[in-house]
Amino acid sequence: MKEFKLAVIGGDGIGPDVVAEGLKILDAIAKKYEVSFVKSNYNLGAGHWNRTGEALSDATLAEIAKSDAILLGAVGDPTVPNGVLERGLLLKLRFAFDQYVNLRPAKLMDGVKSPLNTQEPIDFVVIREGTEGPYVGSGGFLAQGTPREIAIEENINSRFGVERVTRYAFERALKRDKKKVTMVHKNNVQPYAGTLWTNIFNEIASEYPSITAEYLHADAAAMFMVTNPERFDVVVTDNLFGDLLTDIAAAICGGIGLASSGNINPEKKYPSMFEPVHGSAPDIAGKGIADPTATIMSVALMLDHLGLHAAASDVEAAVARDLSSRGDKKRSTVEIGDALLAQL
Ligand code: IPM
Ligand code: MN
Repeated sequence: MKEFKLAVIGGDGIGPDVVAEGLKILDAIAKKYEVSFVKSNYNLGAGHWNRTGEALSDATLAEIAKSDAILLGAVGDPTVPNGVLERGLLLKLRFAFDQYVNLRPAKLMDGVKSPLNTQEPIDFVVIREGTEGPYVGSGGFLAQGTPREIAIEENINSRFGVERVTRYAFERALKRDKKKVTMVHKNNVQPYAGTLWTNIFNEIASEYPSITAEYLHADAAAMFMVTNPERFDVVVTDNLFGDLLTDIAAAICGGIGLASSGNINPEKKYPSMFEPVHGSAPDIAGKGIADPTATIMSVALMLDHLGLHAAASDVEAAVARDLSSRGDKKRSTVEIGDALLAQL
């Protein structure tokens, strides 16, 4: 029997609840497809930080590195200073495991209401660069605490990094119907990073004559995502623009409770990590009302990444059937998980 090692990080707030439902679906799928997932639970997040003062030790990181994939719920809690868990846990994992493709599908499913009144189907995927850009944490303060305080935040982009994520986007577009890649940046105001991205985009586009290549400024892309989402197929962009655009993408497809994501190391040199786009939602934590669908769709992305394509389609189809008959029913986290299990 094929065996996969899975690191499970429920994390904070609603994280553990939605992950529990994701695992329920995963167990059923494993049985059906005769594969096995050997799970290791990592009790990381606010509780661990409050107890130990450490977000993620190098020893634990080395442990997790041995897994085939990571399923993560959410991190962030009011008891921890802003940014500590984001940088010390979430970004540490994304960076250490070279998860340079942050894959975020945006598909408006049947039965789901979009806040837009568009009749056109919405079906695109954002490939957000995951290891560079303004996220690297390079910078510093000068004269901090004085009236002349200076903050420097560096936006780091390498040819190596931009090339590989751009190529991934074009390869992805080859497998889709619209065959279009939109690169998003602000090359009119970021002449260094913007020029690097634009040059590389044009170079790679010329290798893919069957793909329509278009460039959009980030502000225009944000607007078109709301006015003409049907124009997008594959969007490739830097880490920060991608962060902003994927919240819009989630919102127009029915909200963050449905939005899945994969932090992928395509070469499989390191484990890839799958997580819902939403956060820990401390305001509804413990109430059992968080929608686990985003996590379950992230499980589907994980199955696909692990080569279990039929299993992935199976989970997606179960979610699609549930969404199409969902209506305005209010259901608990566990009830939605059970309903999806019944759809499998
Ligand atoms: C996301 C989140 C994270 C990000 C935060 C929690 C660090 O917003 O996954 O989109 O900015 O990448
Ligand atoms: Mn975000």
